[in-house]
Amino acid sequence: MQKLPLQTPLAYLIGEILSTTTLVKANVEKVEERMRAQANERHPDLRVALDNLLVSGGKRVRPKLVLLTGNMLGADPEKLITLAAAIELLHTATLVHDDLIDGSLMRRGNETINANWTPAATVLTGDFIFARAAKLAAETGSLTVMEEFAETLAIMVNGELTQMFDARGLASRENYYQRIYAKTGSLFELSTHGAAIISPVDAEIVEKARIFGRELGTAFQIVDDVLDFTGDQTAVGKPVGSDLLQGLITLPALYYIEKHPEDKEVKSLLKGHFHNKKEMGILIENIRKSDAIQLALEEAKEYAARALQSLNGQPQSEERHALESLAEYVTNRNV
Ligand code: IPE
Ligand code: IPE
Ligand code: MG
Ligand code: MG
Repeated sequence: MQKLPLQTPLAYLIGEILSTTTLVKANVEKVEERMRAQANERHPDLRVALDNLLVSGGKRVRPKLVLLTGNMLGADPEKLITLAAAIELLHTATLVHDDLIDGSLMRRGNETINANWTPAATVLTGDFIFARAAKLAAETGSLTVMEEFAETLAIMVNGELTQMFDARGLASRENYYQRIYAKTGSLFELSTHGAAIISPVDAEIVEKARIFGRELGTAFQIVDDVLDFTGDQTAVGKPVGSDLLQGLITLPALYYIEKHPEDKEVKSLLKGHFHNKKEMGILIENIRKSDAIQLALEEAKEYAARALQSLNGQPQSEERHALESLAEYVTNRNV
């Protein structure tokens, strides 16, 4: 089967920027090994499924954030590798469950677990990965990291449930920000916060690191939501406007709805008729052509700028520069 490039252009570049430091290059491989070791001595089918999941990659943005932040702050490298593996496994488990929930058959150019297995087997595979992620989080030896880890998982699950029950056809900025915090901001936050918690630094520095991850994650997700409208379909790996077609109203759509409340298609969407492909097609095209795209990007830039600001006072280092380029890239880019 032909492999599809499922990474968005932005996401790909983020991966590139984050790979620049020597530390990250050397240690990401160790994180991968750590993750692969988690399936040893288990049911052979589970082992194969986990091997396939882990070789199919992904950008590894979250573990790279852990490594960069922790190394900038002087954490023990072995503990950072453990934390990075825990967080990427948590991410992997949420994707296994998410693809089942969304009925997605492809991810990262490969077939998803639910494309081949029953829902029951898919749920259990996700559970196994969650369990392994929690075990690794415990191996950092930090009770605070464990607590934050559990809290983040609760936020993510609550976000998926909220989206399932309440979010479809709902044009609410508050709901949108809660949703993107739950699905992306919270885990980016855990990555930088967790790394700072296990570093020999005071509470003020820990808080700054936490803010960096949260703000960067929010900017990342807004840009992702913009790319859902503007991105090249083959590069993004999903149909253009796929969020709206599922009834999920993201920031570009919110701006458009605010400016054009009388549009026939907007009214239809707000009545919950997002299954009407013809109307949603027209609406997606109108949003693409409108200034809603630019407005959403400007909002992403504000989040990225706040991320950048939170690096003030962090130690000058190769890692800090890599984190800065990342926030700057998100700030300055044009889709
Ligand atoms: C995808 O995350 C899921 C979301 C939170 C939107 P990434 O874009 O980091 O996916 P991978 O890990 O690189 O595949
Ligand atoms: C999935 O969110 C990410 C989670 C953390 C649950 P989405 O369903 O919006 O993202 P993709 O499009 O599958 O990556
Ligand atoms: Mg999904
Ligand atoms: Mg989903």
